[in-house]
Amino acid sequence: MLIAQISDTHIAEHGHKTLGIAPMQANLRRVVAHINQQDPAADVVLISGDVTDNGTPEQMANAARILAGLNAPFFVIPGNHDTRAALWSEFGAAACPSRVDDFIAYVVDGFDMRLIGLDSTIPNASGGELCDTRLDWLEARLAEAPSRPTLIFMHHPPVKCGVLETDQDGFIGADQLGKIIARFPCVERVLCGHIHLATFTGWQGTIVATCPSIGMRLGLDLSMTKESEFLLDDPGYMLHHKSDQGVLISHVIRVGNDDGPYPFAPQG
Ligand SMILES: [Fe+2]
Ligand SMILES: [Fe+2]
Repeated sequence: MLIAQISDTHIAEHGHKTLGIAPMQANLRRVVAHINQQDPAADVVLISGDVTDNGTPEQMANAARILAGLNAPFFVIPGNHDTRAALWSEFGAAACPSRVDDFIAYVVDGFDMRLIGLDSTIPNASGGELCDTRLDWLEARLAEAPSRPTLIFMHHPPVKCGVLETDQDGFIGADQLGKIIARFPCVERVLCGHIHLATFTGWQGTIVATCPSIGMRLGLDLSMTKESEFLLDDPGYMLHHKSDQGVLISHVIRVGNDDGPYPFAPQG
C-alpha cells in the first residue's frame, strides 16, 4: 500500500503567490503531477492541514481545484490557517467523511491500513488541542480494531519538535493522547504537518512524523532564540509505503530539478 502525504500548502487567492512571494499554487500542481506519476500508484493521499493561507472560501476553492487533479482518492483535515466551515463546505463528505460535533474526525477503512483523520485545531489560535470529545472518539475508534495497522493524521504534532514558535503554542491534551496511543501498538505513525520541516520522533511506542511544506521551509534554528522565518524551497511531500512484508517505510520526497539518475559506476 502506498500513502502519499501533502501538508501546509498555504494556498492564496487564484493567481497570487502566498505572502506575495511563495509560488504555492504552481508548487501544488507539481506535487500533484509527481504523485500521479508514482509507480506503483499511490492508493490514497492525505492532506494534513494548512490547506489555505487564511482559510477563506475562495482560497479553499482554489486549493480544491488543484487537488482535484490527483488520480488517487484524497482526504483532508484542517490546520490552524484553515477554517472548519470553509473546509467542510468545499470538500464535504468525499474528502472529510464525518464530523464529531463541530470537529472533522473520521475513519477511512478499506485499505491495508486503517486511516484516522483528526481535527487538532482551535478556532483563531495557532496551537493544537484534542479535547475530551475528540480523545473519547479516538479511543473508541482504536478500540474497535486494536490489531489493525493504523495511521492517525492530524495537523499539529503532539510533541515539542524543537521549533520555538510551535513549541510555545503547545498542544492541549497531548499527555492524554499519549496515554491512549501507548495502549494501542497498532498505531504505526502519527502523521502531522504544521512545522514546515520533515522530522521523526519516537513517542509512546509509535513515531510522530511531520511532513515538509510544499515550498515554504521553516528556517531551522536549533538555538530556539530567533523569530520564525521561512525559505523558498523545492516542494516536498511524503510517501508512506507499506511493503509486502508489512513494514511501513516513510520517505521524504523532494520535487526539484534532479541531475541524474546515474548508475553506481564510474562516469565519463
Ligand atoms: Fe503551515
Ligand atoms: Fe500550521
